[in-house]
Amino acid sequence: MGEKANQSQKDITGFRPPEDFVRNAIVNDPDIYRRAEEDPESFWEENAGGIEWYRKWDRVLEWEPPHSKWFIGGKLNACYNCLDVNLDQHADKTAIIWEGENGDIRNYTYKELLEEVCRFANVLKGMGVKKGDIVTIYLPMIPEVVISMLACARIGAPHSVVFAAFSGDSLATRIGNANSRVLITCDGYSRRGKIIEQKNKVDDGIRSCGLIDQVIVVRHMGNEITMKDGRDIWWHEAMENSDSSCEPEVMDSEDMLFLMYTSGTTGKPKGIVHTTGGYMVTTQTTTKFVFDLKNEDIYWCTADCGWITGHSYLVYGPLSNGTTLVIYEGAPDYPDKDRYWDIIERHKVTILYTAPTAIRTFMKWGASWPQMHDISTLRLIGSVGEPINPGAWLWYHENIGMGRCPVVDTWWQTETGMIMISPLPGITTTKPGSATLPIPGIKAAVLDDKGNEVAPGQDGYLAILDPWPSMVRTVFGNEERFIETYWIKWDNKTYFAGDGAKKDEDGYFWIIGRVDDVIKVSGHRIGSAEFESILVSHPSVAEAGVVGKEDELRGEVIYSYVTLKSGIEESNELKKELTAYAEKNIGPFARPRQIIFSDDLPKTRSGKIMRRVLKAIANEKDPGDVSTLQDPAVVEMLKEKTRMLESA
Ligand code: WTA
Repeated sequence: MGEKANQSQKDITGFRPPEDFVRNAIVNDPDIYRRAEEDPESFWEENAGGIEWYRKWDRVLEWEPPHSKWFIGGKLNACYNCLDVNLDQHADKTAIIWEGENGDIRNYTYKELLEEVCRFANVLKGMGVKKGDIVTIYLPMIPEVVISMLACARIGAPHSVVFAAFSGDSLATRIGNANSRVLITCDGYSRRGKIIEQKNKVDDGIRSCGLIDQVIVVRHMGNEITMKDGRDIWWHEAMENSDSSCEPEVMDSEDMLFLMYTSGTTGKPKGIVHTTGGYMVTTQTTTKFVFDLKNEDIYWCTADCGWITGHSYLVYGPLSNGTTLVIYEGAPDYPDKDRYWDIIERHKVTILYTAPTAIRTFMKWGASWPQMHDISTLRLIGSVGEPINPGAWLWYHENIGMGRCPVVDTWWQTETGMIMISPLPGITTTKPGSATLPIPGIKAAVLDDKGNEVAPGQDGYLAILDPWPSMVRTVFGNEERFIETYWIKWDNKTYFAGDGAKKDEDGYFWIIGRVDDVIKVSGHRIGSAEFESILVSHPSVAEAGVVGKEDELRGEVIYSYVTLKSGIEESNELKKELTAYAEKNIGPFARPRQIIFSDDLPKTRSGKIMRRVLKAIANEKDPGDVSTLQDPAVVEMLKEKTRMLESA
């Protein structure tokens, strides 16, 4: 890989990093690839030196495929490494610049953040939360989400953050799976000037699951809510007399740091388990290397803490590097379409990390919006969450990066915990639309069904060949699913990422998108099966097949093919009702774009709905051989219906 990376510099055409960027970059010696490849364990061990350990590890890696343990015997605390370690040099440095949608600003220095975190950690302790208890966090992008996560980490209670826009039912499913007894939420939050009634969603959702004993409620919007006696308490009241120091719990390297639910191929979301040591080492290292993070940077990652990016590259990676973060609560077009550029100008943001859907939206709105502001403080810009098309990449580079900021297109997943394929901005020549090369220490390949590497330019499946420190350890409470989803595809030791990809002649990776039944709407992961199980729970629906249709703006949108129960009439009202039903049961970000009624769906002889065929139909592509279907004529009928929608 190292040699390849070197060669690539010579013979490819692309964007070379500007010379002055290279000169000052934290990593600018391509030899890092060779060193890491020759001895990945030593490479990670060397980087583990960036973390403060209470006890050093005995061994770096134990690999009993598909299970890995890292930094075995090492003891540390993640919160300590994000906050306390910065006190020596950065006590008064700003850790968080928070901006509310309405323009409110709250800043925290490292010292202040530590105090708040300790106070909240003591609140949790006072409620009886102990090491190992899973705490559910259901908060929007307000400072309390970060404070809650770090307080959990401090006392060794793994957190499970549920994206605030999920419905109360989705929240309840996740609480149920995690067996969580304590929930942290807020009264409401602001989206395009409207109040989202978060606490109401909680009350509806947790009524059914009956697990939660205590709910801590942040007063954020001041909207009226009901507090349930004996269960609900206000954050500010709980914090009032809480002590501002709290000893961090000494955690084992392999103790669980958090659970993150994500959609997969079955109806229920799976709890991805991340542990402490390996995760902290790699998020710290990759944040530094990929974003070239320096002490004076003002770093803004627009991701939400409800997703993995908000864990690795908003909280743990940046704070463990002593960074100043910007957090913004609201929508990019509120009050107007220049909000992001206004934020960058006012806070002098130097690094921006956002998603392709956002970039394509900005592109649609036009360059006049960023041009209204001085965004010349930017020196590096990144992208994550979905494939970025070359057109959007070039627009981003030209209009936001002013043609001089390196663009880092970073490929990774909830399961990988860390960035896996990405340019190193001081080394890699970038090609628009390619995530470029695996980062040092990572070995990736594009394989066929049998596990053989495909030729350059050919489509195949993206695979990771060797273990890495922040890899998913298991699926919470479902080891079988862990094996089935990621490992049995080939040989039980090669990780199946679920993405299609190809490699070009220079060894650069081009990610095509999901090959399993995961749909990526604006970068949000939604499972076909999860969606279908919600639709069929509606009294009018007999069967449903849900697939992603490619979309210029959002990457993919949701197409639902639905068979109604006998005697139920198709109507536009019912379409609207089902749309609202899906929205209520999952969340507004999962609104289906189209609901297509059909008397039948493409099925195998054994009655299994063929999503592959439906996906081809939705995307007006050739569904291939359909002769094995129960009724091949269904395909033509659905093609016609889909065509009619498009022309309508
Ligand atoms: C997709 C998000 C292309 C991919 C960090 C992956 C990408 C899924 C990229 C994981 C990228 C993420 N280029 N595709 N740079 N980054 N993806 O778990 O399909 O929410 O499998 O993690 O997002 O989504 P997840």
